[in-house]
Amino acid sequence: MFARRVMVVGTGYVGLTTGACLASLGHEVVCADIDTAKVERLRRGVVDIVEPGLSELVSEQTSAGRLSFVVGNSAALASFEEGRSPEVVFLCVPTPMGAGGVADLRAVESVMEEVGASLAPGTVVVNKSTVPVGTAERTAEMLERADIGVVSNPEFLREGSAVKDFLGPDRIVVGSDNQDAAERVAALYARLGAPTVLTDAASAELMKYAANCFLAMKLSYVNAMAELCERVGADIADVTEGIGYDRRIGQAFLSPGPGWGGSCLPKDTHALLQVADAADFEFRLLRATIDTNTRQRQRIVDKVRLAVTGKRTGSLSRVRLCLLGLTFKAGTDDLRDSPALAIAALLRQAGAELVGFDPAFVDGPEALKFRDGEPAPSEVEGVPLAADAVSAAQGAEAVLVLTEWAQFRSLDWSVMAAAMKRPIVVDTRNVVDPATLRRAGLTAVGLGRRTDFGEE
Ligand code: UDX
Repeated sequence: MFARRVMVVGTGYVGLTTGACLASLGHEVVCADIDTAKVERLRRGVVDIVEPGLSELVSEQTSAGRLSFVVGNSAALASFEEGRSPEVVFLCVPTPMGAGGVADLRAVESVMEEVGASLAPGTVVVNKSTVPVGTAERTAEMLERADIGVVSNPEFLREGSAVKDFLGPDRIVVGSDNQDAAERVAALYARLGAPTVLTDAASAELMKYAANCFLAMKLSYVNAMAELCERVGADIADVTEGIGYDRRIGQAFLSPGPGWGGSCLPKDTHALLQVADAADFEFRLLRATIDTNTRQRQRIVDKVRLAVTGKRTGSLSRVRLCLLGLTFKAGTDDLRDSPALAIAALLRQAGAELVGFDPAFVDGPEALKFRDGEPAPSEVEGVPLAADAVSAAQGAEAVLVLTEWAQFRSLDWSVMAAAMKRPIVVDTRNVVDPATLRRAGLTAVGLGRRTDFGEE
């Protein structure tokens, strides 16, 4: 195994995971960030992101001398010894999609302006962040250096299992119009023994969107199927179990929910739609995937309305509702494009009074240590937060389960029932056992289930 000298630009979610994991594979990694306070925290082993195993890996690799953090890109480059400059530079900076499908590559541009001319001949520059198709080509144009290869090496990391995903990938994708540069990047991962797809830059860039949009489509399909189950008296859990045994479909990513969200799926589906529009391609299937997801949020509100008022057109004005889980999924403190917050906004518009509880936003030993000792917030986007689930349920006319935190399953639901004004639980993730809820005297409303109140 050849240990390589690697520089990682940006210590966000992707950059930090990449840096720490590459160090754990034996490479010598220097991570650069412009945020001085963040670099200082990282040097102390404090990781701001909630990601299992990441802070341990950062501390371990820092102590082993394979991972270090430097403020600024030029300083990071200069930190490599004379004659031992980085062989590979990973760009892990934000690359948002601007209007009309045009990539906003200002962050990449400024990095290239700062250090592009100082890179040693033969260095490989890698785009790791999800980037619009054509970014590798544009990066090469900005660099104006024929002696430097530009490679696209998209990440496929899920929040909450990023380290595991990085070190046990389903595949490694490396795309470049410079074969030698691509092979050198692929070699960084050789120890992982994962299938490796070597391709051109545009195909690698498109592959990331193709994967995430397919996953979004799978979820929209399941959510639509759950709705159909309710109408025809079928059960979505049995239907998905049955179809999941078909190896071409697979069991993963088949749970119905309040709609998909997070930092990737919503952004990437819209980005691919823009790519398609710009290429004059009417991607109807993708548009329907997004529309189904938008509709799913309204569908949850309609379910709450029916459960609480008994009428499809009943009023939720001044109805107190308890929201369990506000992040976009369990195991994270990430609120970006969270379906729970979108549903909260719709419920507030309908006049409901909301109180939330999320295990990611509590103080105490149970809390996820996500803010370096900062106290938990008292509200999230206008939803006041209670310290525990029972306090949040006090006087509520219904409890909504919006993320699949394991502790919601094991709550003492009879204590919850005693705190509530009316005994209704709308479980948008089908995570709490309906029989447990019924034993606690609660009416369980889920997604795509035969037995649910309001669906017969
Ligand atoms: C996703 C991709 O999985 C990952 O490969 C890519 O690199 C980044 O985007 P992430 O955003 O961390 O990862 O979340 P993921 O676990 O994929 O979930 C996405 C959304 O779908 C969440 O809102 C989640 O709650 C929802 N989901 C997922 C379901 O509703 N049902 C499921 O069965 C799975």
